[in-house]
Amino acid sequence: EKGNYRHFMQKEIFEQPVVVAQTLRSYLRRVEQTVALPQIDFDLASINRVTIVACGTSFYAGMVAKYWFEQFARLPVDIDVASEFRYRDPVLEPGGLALFISQSGETADTLAALRHCKAAGQTIAVVVNVPTSSMAREADLLLPTHAGPEIGVASTKAFTCQLAVLAALAAHLAVKRGRLSREEEAEIVEQLVETPACLNAALAHDEEIAGMAHLIAPARDVLYLGRGPDYPLALEGALKLKEISYIHAEGYASGEMKHGPIALIDEAVPVIVLAPSGPLFEKTVSNMQEVRARGGKVVLISDAEGIAEAGEGCLATIEMPKVHPLIAPLVYAVPVQLLAYHVAVAKDTDVDQPRNLAKSVTVE
Ligand code: F6R
Repeated sequence: EKGNYRHFMQKEIFEQPVVVAQTLRSYLRRVEQTVALPQIDFDLASINRVTIVACGTSFYAGMVAKYWFEQFARLPVDIDVASEFRYRDPVLEPGGLALFISQSGETADTLAALRHCKAAGQTIAVVVNVPTSSMAREADLLLPTHAGPEIGVASTKAFTCQLAVLAALAAHLAVKRGRLSREEEAEIVEQLVETPACLNAALAHDEEIAGMAHLIAPARDVLYLGRGPDYPLALEGALKLKEISYIHAEGYASGEMKHGPIALIDEAVPVIVLAPSGPLFEKTVSNMQEVRARGGKVVLISDAEGIAEAGEGCLATIEMPKVHPLIAPLVYAVPVQLLAYHVAVAKDTDVDQPRNLAKSVTVE
């Protein structure tokens, strides 16, 4: 039950450090500092490409994974939402791994896509939170998340647990393909082990984010911007906000701003920028300046370094711990979830049961 929390969604956001740690425990060997999948007898060395299929928030976890599989394992990745994939006659060649991501393991379009790939001879891997689900039963390689039951309709803890499993899978594929040295693998393990503590540090900003809700609640439209593996987080932030607060929100790759959405910018459109410091930071700062020059109000989510460099003149800033780029998408998930949550509370919507939405979409 909800315990001291007002909503299941709030409880599930706060459970993340524990459930992510719980999930990672079955994918990491901490003493040896290696990554190990639950079914270690399964050899993934011969995989030559990955096709990722999912819906909604699970699809955004897959988008993050694409960056990781390419960067670490040097595997070509194709990704699509299930409702498009299943009807577009995709090219599926031998040696492909088809990866399905689903909290429920029952989403109709994702399950249909899985069956399509199975018939086409792909090796089927699934990341699911319900181990007895249809997708779990039909998989060659079952990669469970251990998020526990997710009651809030808007997915939160299932998402970060999916990311944790996908990071471990990316590292495992990289090792199998000879793309990671022992030291690099150990470094990834170390970063993943640090994740729960970083999630706690992000959660410590809860009250501060609650205090910002009144800045966003009156908006009719909100934009979210991110780059690289944090771009899918911009999409996820926008989805979370529209689902539970009913404010129209869009996520964009920061560099796409000037190709259209910048036309929307004025004082009434808050722009949430997700930008950990690092090699791409400067580019995002210049996108932010373009927004500000047009009267746009920026909420910058970054680390101390990023905020020191670009925080001045922002409507608000939210300081995340400085983290390894690998785990940034997990950590930056927290402030976007909290922001959506508090804006919805400020608007007094039904947070756990948003209108028109169902927890499990078992019809097409
Ligand atoms: C968003 C949300 C949905 C689900 C989507 C897929 O908060 O919960 O977008 O992510 O319906 O559901 P699963 O992961 O069960 O396949």
